[in-house]
Amino acid sequence: MLADEMGWHAAGNTRPNPPVGCVIVDSAGAILGRGATEPAGGRHAEVVALQAAGASAAGATAYVTLEPCNHTGRTGPCAEALIAAGIAEVHYLFADPGKTEGGGGQRLHAAGVTVTGPYLEPFHLGEHRFSVEPWLRAAHLGRPHVTLKFASTLNGLAAATDRTSQWITGPTARADVHADRQYREAILVGTGTVLADDPQLTARPGGAEGPRQPLRFALGQRELPTNARLLQAGTHAPAGQLLATRDLHAALAELRRQGISDVLVEGGPELAGSFLAHGLVDEIRAYLAPAWLPRGLPALGAGGIGSTSITDLQRFATRSVQRIGEDILWLAQR
Ligand SMILES: NC(=O)c1ccc[n+]([C@@H]2O[C@H](COP(=O)([O-])OP(=O)(O)OC[C@H]3O[C@@H](n4cnc5c(N)ncnc54)[C@H](OP(=O)(O)O)[C@@H]3O)[C@@H](O)[C@H]2O)c1
Repeated sequence: MLADEMGWHAAGNTRPNPPVGCVIVDSAGAILGRGATEPAGGRHAEVVALQAAGASAAGATAYVTLEPCNHTGRTGPCAEALIAAGIAEVHYLFADPGKTEGGGGQRLHAAGVTVTGPYLEPFHLGEHRFSVEPWLRAAHLGRPHVTLKFASTLNGLAAATDRTSQWITGPTARADVHADRQYREAILVGTGTVLADDPQLTARPGGAEGPRQPLRFALGQRELPTNARLLQAGTHAPAGQLLATRDLHAALAELRRQGISDVLVEGGPELAGSFLAHGLVDEIRAYLAPAWLPRGLPALGAGGIGSTSITDLQRFATRSVQRIGEDILWLAQR
């Protein structure tokens, strides 16, 4: 858990690498060093932790959220660094899915290190979300991992008939949205949302734009006003981009090309429906408000699908349900 806490320090900041965390402890359980992946080109978590531990790493145990890599990219292989430092035992949470990166566990074992892992499968359903999960799942899916976020009334509406939607949920839920954005690599909305709300979509935990900012994208064929807030650079956020297409696979391929593994789709309803209809929603982050609006836009559109039968039901599995102020945050995954 402490290794994962380290991983969260890096989440959103390591494209195209995974946000890994590592903790090195001695036989009494005392922490000798800890580390998180540095931005691309920087040190991997294991190397940061080893350097913090120094000579005391000899004979110690390393806990890592992802199997140590076994290849020389921009940095040397972590498996070799652990061996060279004299680490006696390694525990890793998830196996490395990479064709070249994988195999670090075997390399460590061959060098006489006691290796335990993986402890979890990449698509496990546990309540705790690990920082490395979206990257890991993206590697398996061959495209960015998609989380669909929406806010809805009790009767499943995301906006009123006049398209106003601010605000359905309360301040605690909205603060949570900003906190979550900080750890995302990218945020995507449809042009309809940009034209209706002119959102910034920056991460503003505590009200102000923080140093950790996701890349921001609008998707659709309509032109956007050049002064749309999403298209402007912020204090820390780079200017947002318009992806002038309705082809979701092409859009995700473009995100992948930009090194993105984790995208948060923040609606609106039409785009959300389309992602669902294409089977491209991996995780759902639903904020449900105890509120009723007589009429409005369904939070999740039909994605162009006309008539249905119950066999069209797409079911998701609940990961967690949490009260958040007056609202409920429901996390589910495919
Ligand atoms: N409660 C919430 O969580 C929430 C979140 C966001 C928005 N909203 C509300 O939702 C309303 C806007 O709804 P909306 O449904 O018009 O917004 P939207 O889903 O953001 O935008 C829809 C537009 O996205 C473009 N698009 C690109 N790829 C698409 C695809 N594969 N499938 C379908 N559309 C695609 C199309 O525009 P082009 O013609 O440009 O291609 C389409 O008209 C506003 O009232 C806003 O306040 C609520």
